[in-house]
Amino acid sequence: MRRERCGELGLGAVGKRVTLAGWVQAVRDFGSLTFVDLRDSSGLVQLVFRGMPEARELGREDVIRVSGTVVRRENPNPHLPTGEVEVAVEHLEILAKSKPLPFLPDEDVKASEETRLRYRFLDLRRPRMQRNLRLRHKVCLAIRQYLDAQGFIEVETPMLTRSTPEGARDFLVPSRLEPGKFYALPQSPQLFKQILVCSGVERYFQIVRCFRDEDLRADRQPEFTQLDLEMAFLEDPEELFSLLEGLVAHVFRETLGIAIETPFPRIPYAEAMARYGSDKPDLRFGLEIVDLSELFAHAGFQVFESALREGGVVRGLPVPGGAELSRGELGKLEEAARKAGLGGLLWVKVGEGLQSPLSKHVPGGVLEKAAAQAGLGKGDLLLLAAGPQKTVAQALGELRLRLARERGLIPKGRWAFAWIVDFPLFKLSEEGRVESEHHPFTSPRDEDLPFLETDPLRVRAKCYDLVLNGVELASGSIRIHRRELQERVFKILGIGPEEAERRFGFFLRALEYGAPPHGGIAFGLDRWVMMLAGENSIREVIAFPKTATGACPLTGAPAEVDESQLRELHIKVDLE
Ligand code: AMO
Repeated sequence: MRRERCGELGLGAVGKRVTLAGWVQAVRDFGSLTFVDLRDSSGLVQLVFRGMPEARELGREDVIRVSGTVVRRENPNPHLPTGEVEVAVEHLEILAKSKPLPFLPDEDVKASEETRLRYRFLDLRRPRMQRNLRLRHKVCLAIRQYLDAQGFIEVETPMLTRSTPEGARDFLVPSRLEPGKFYALPQSPQLFKQILVCSGVERYFQIVRCFRDEDLRADRQPEFTQLDLEMAFLEDPEELFSLLEGLVAHVFRETLGIAIETPFPRIPYAEAMARYGSDKPDLRFGLEIVDLSELFAHAGFQVFESALREGGVVRGLPVPGGAELSRGELGKLEEAARKAGLGGLLWVKVGEGLQSPLSKHVPGGVLEKAAAQAGLGKGDLLLLAAGPQKTVAQALGELRLRLARERGLIPKGRWAFAWIVDFPLFKLSEEGRVESEHHPFTSPRDEDLPFLETDPLRVRAKCYDLVLNGVELASGSIRIHRRELQERVFKILGIGPEEAERRFGFFLRALEYGAPPHGGIAFGLDRWVMMLAGENSIREVIAFPKTATGACPLTGAPAEVDESQLRELHIKVDLE
C-alpha cells in the first residue's frame, strides 16, 4: 500500500515520486492550496495539495493514501525532522474517515484517564504512548538478549493453576469439567520456577503475567508483568547480584544509552529502616535520619524518656535550609507525623543561636549536641520524634520523602540503585499472626536456624530487594531446598502437615527427588519501564491497563455473564 514512510523523507528524496499512507494529523486550508500533516509510526511529513478540493474535506485522524513528488520546502520547519521537504500530492485516496474525536490524541492530552482508557486506540496514537510501547518492547528485547547470552532459557508456566501464596487474594476461575472446583490465576510462577530448577532447567527466566486481587495504586495493577528468574546451584546471593547488575546496566545502555554505575550498594534492612525510614529508600538525596536515643536518655525531657523506657527510640531528621519553615508549615508536618502514628513532632532550628520548643525542657548543651550529631549548619532544621522504633522510622521516612519533594531536593536524571539485604524471615500480621515477610519458600539464614522455633521474629532471611529511586523494582531470595526445613517453616506459619500436603504436596515432592540449592528474583517489569520512560504510573506503559477499581473502560470488563454460562459452571450469583 505504501512504498515510503513519512518520517524518513529528507532532502535526499527531493524529486522522488513517493507513495505514503497514514493518519491526518492536521489540515491547514488556504483555498486552492491545502496543507496536511500526515503521520505514520515513523513520524510526520507535510503534504501539499494544489487545486484538489477533496483535500479540504479531510479531518483529523482520517486514514489516507497519497502519491506525489518530494519537493524542497519554501519555509522549512526546523522543529520537524522532515521539515525541509514536503510532498506535492498528485493522487489522494481516503481509506477510512474518522468520526468527530472524543479528544485529540496529542502530546498534552486534555481528556480524563477514564476517557483515555475507553478510547485507548486513540490514546495510544499519541507520540508519548507510542514511545512508551516501543521502549517496553526494547526493554524486553534487551532482557532476552542478555539472559540468553548468560545461558538462561525462557519457559512458560501455566495460567490456570493452584493458588500461590504471595500475600494477595487470588483471581479464581471456575472449572466446568469439575463442578465446584476452581483454578487460581498465578500471583507469580514461584512454585513452577522452583520445580523447573528441580527439573534440570538450571537457568530459567520468563517475562510473565501475574494476577493479584489487591487494592490498586499508581504502581500496582491486578494483572502485571514480571521478569521472573531462577538459578540452580545458587547459594551466595552475590553471584546473582553481579549477574543482575550486568542485566540492569545492559538494559539501560540498550534503551536509554545511559551507563549505570555498578556494583550497587548493599544495605541491610535494619540500616535502611534506621537511616531512611523505609525498606525502599530513595537514595537520590541525603536527609539521613539520626538516632538520638542515647543523647536524650537522661536529658530530663519526660516525653522522650518514657518513650525510651518503653523500648522505643528518639530520632531526628535533618532538613537542610529548613529553618525558614514557618510555624504553620511545621504544624502541617506535625499533623502528618500524627497521622503516621507519632504522638507529636518537635523541632530545633539553627539560626544565630538554637531555637526550639524543647529549650526550656532540657539542660543547655543537649540540643547543641543533637544539632552537631545530625550535622546541622546555620539555616537548617532538625525534626525530632520519639516512640516505638517502627512507628518512628516509618513516620520520619514519610516526612523525609515529603520534604525532599516539597523542597526540591530530588536531583533529576539520577539513578540510585541499592540492594536491600538481611530482611527478617517473618513479620507479625495486624492480628498478631506470624507471616512470611517475603514468601514461605525463602530460606532462613543458616546462623539464625537455631532460634527458628524459639524466636522466629529474630530470624533473618536470605532475601533481597532491588530498589531504584525509592521504588521496589525487584524482590527475590535463596530458597529452601530441603523438605524438612520447608515443613518447619510452614509449621511456624501455622500450616500443619495435612494442610501443607493438600496445598503444596506437588511442590514438596519435587524437593524429595534431588533438589539443587537454588534461588532467584522477580522484577516488576511495568515499574521498570515506567521509570525508564519517566512516567509516574505503570498505566502509562501498559497497553490496556485497568482503572483504580480494576475495571477496563475499553471492554467494559468485568461484566455480567449469561445465565447459561453460570448454569454450566454450577454457579449461582447471590448479591445479598
Ligand atoms: P514480589 O511479590 O515481591 O515477589 O513481586 C516481585 C516484583 O513484582 C512487582 N509487583 C507488582 N507490579 C505491579 N503491580 C503489582 N500488583 C505488583 N506486585 C508486585 C514489584 C515486585 O518487586 N515470586 C516472588 C519473586 C521471587 O521470590 O523470585 C514475587 O513475586 O516490582
